[in-house]
Amino acid sequence: MAAADSFYIATPIFYVNDVPHIGHAYTEVASDVLARWHRQRGDDTWLLTGTDEHGEKILRTAVANGTSPKQWVDKLVAESWQPLLSTIDIANDDFIRTTDERHEATVRAFLQKLYDDGYIYAGEYSGYYCVGCEEYKQDDDLLTATDGEYKGQLVCKIHGRPVEVLKEKNYFFRMSQFQQQLLDLYEQRPDFVQPQSVRNEIVSFVSRGLEDLSISRSSFDWGIKLPWDESHVVYVWFDALLNYISATGYGTDDANFARRWPAVHLIGKDIARFHAVIWPAMLMAAGVEVPRTVFGHGWLLVNGEKMSKTKLTGIQPTQITDVFGSDAFRYYFMRAVALGQDGSFSWEDISARYQAELANGFGNLASRVVAMINRYFDGELPAAGALEPADAVIVETVKQAAVDADAAILRFAPHDALTAIWTIVERLNGYITEQEPWVLAKDAAKRERLATVLNTAAEGLRALAVLLSPVMPQSTTKLWTALGQDGRVAEQDLTTAGEWGQLAPGTRVNALEALFPRVETIEGAA
Ligand code: ME8
Ligand code: MG
Repeated sequence: MAAADSFYIATPIFYVNDVPHIGHAYTEVASDVLARWHRQRGDDTWLLTGTDEHGEKILRTAVANGTSPKQWVDKLVAESWQPLLSTIDIANDDFIRTTDERHEATVRAFLQKLYDDGYIYAGEYSGYYCVGCEEYKQDDDLLTATDGEYKGQLVCKIHGRPVEVLKEKNYFFRMSQFQQQLLDLYEQRPDFVQPQSVRNEIVSFVSRGLEDLSISRSSFDWGIKLPWDESHVVYVWFDALLNYISATGYGTDDANFARRWPAVHLIGKDIARFHAVIWPAMLMAAGVEVPRTVFGHGWLLVNGEKMSKTKLTGIQPTQITDVFGSDAFRYYFMRAVALGQDGSFSWEDISARYQAELANGFGNLASRVVAMINRYFDGELPAAGALEPADAVIVETVKQAAVDADAAILRFAPHDALTAIWTIVERLNGYITEQEPWVLAKDAAKRERLATVLNTAAEGLRALAVLLSPVMPQSTTKLWTALGQDGRVAEQDLTTAGEWGQLAPGTRVNALEALFPRVETIEGAA
């Protein structure tokens, strides 16, 4: 079991049948914000992401594009999926591909162990399969299309496309044996699956009974071959889920595995069953500790439907970052969508929040305070005199915001963390308006009061830079430099960010360019 301060968070590994859209970027950002926060509070943090490259969906896409699956995945990973991470400033510690040899070796060893221990047997699967989901389907996962291209056909409820009818000799995992152990797990650890809505869905699914799971395919060969029967490849989900332990040294680096595992899984609710049912059952069979948490976040919707690669409703992250920048992208999705609930993206909403909250709220506050220190104190941070009640309110606001934000992050609520941090932006803006430092500056007798007001405001900005750094690494770095601070803002301790009086009077303040410049045209806006 990993140490108490270990924080290992993993995103899903994404199918590289197509380029990423903002749904994938959303999971990446949320995971990265949590990871950066934990890193900055001193936890032994590890953020894993990567790509899911085997299976029929990718094989078919490659074939349709006249290329081999390996060429296809190499191209997509290099040209689209890895670049996504820099587009949105993801500070991942590792990137795993299921075509990595380190992964394939672990998958073979894990399967061999389950096979040797009697958890896998040969059988025949006969039933439905959705290639879009890469999932064996039951009757209640399907419906008969009443209109459109596939009218009259049995389609997957999720993808709206016809399912395949499979009849294959396959190997099966004795998942049904784990029904009671899983139900006990959900009951003993009510926060194992979050949020509550996803937990309820999982508990009721498992309560209805579990069947054994087909874990191999024999009708195509784009996958990892079973070690004891090379005419089969591993079912893509069985392969993919193992990335979380192959990447951290299961069976190859015991010390590292012990240090990292168990993981927090931050995934979309579409794949909660795989992570909260199949995955812990696999681990139980192998005698490995189950994950720490499976958190299924909501969907980004387009026209009320889940944005998807398959349905071609994807918006590319660069469409947004090219206009607003990466910080605003990250801020927007963390603030506007409560993690765990669905949310709709709209150009109007992001534009409005960019203008009101980032440009006029945070950005303008930072520029004004830094400019006034430059103007009235020749760029030297003045010392504060005796605090008045109005100043004390700011001191208290900062302290409380830091405590509330940390608590919110620990319960997977970055939206609440931002709301808490924004109390500093709002109170400070009100404080500047009320204190009118530009009026104080005209009266030599008010010099000390002016110093106190600007020192108080600068301390508030210092706290904002540290607290917002996990969400907006670029603008907070600029602010940190403008405040004349050494070191990287991303390395400042979050647990003491709310403590007052950390800026040394006399510190030289630098000029600050606009953190959130005016956005003239909105490309792609409806
Ligand atoms: O399922 N809103 O990969 P995938 C929010 N390879 N998040 C979304 C989203 C949306 N509209 N669309 C996608 C797979 N996502 C498997 C995972 S893990 C061992 C294997 C995000 O490419 C969300 O995280 O279909 C969702 O769970 C994931 O992308 C699905 O990505
Ligand atoms: Mg999908």
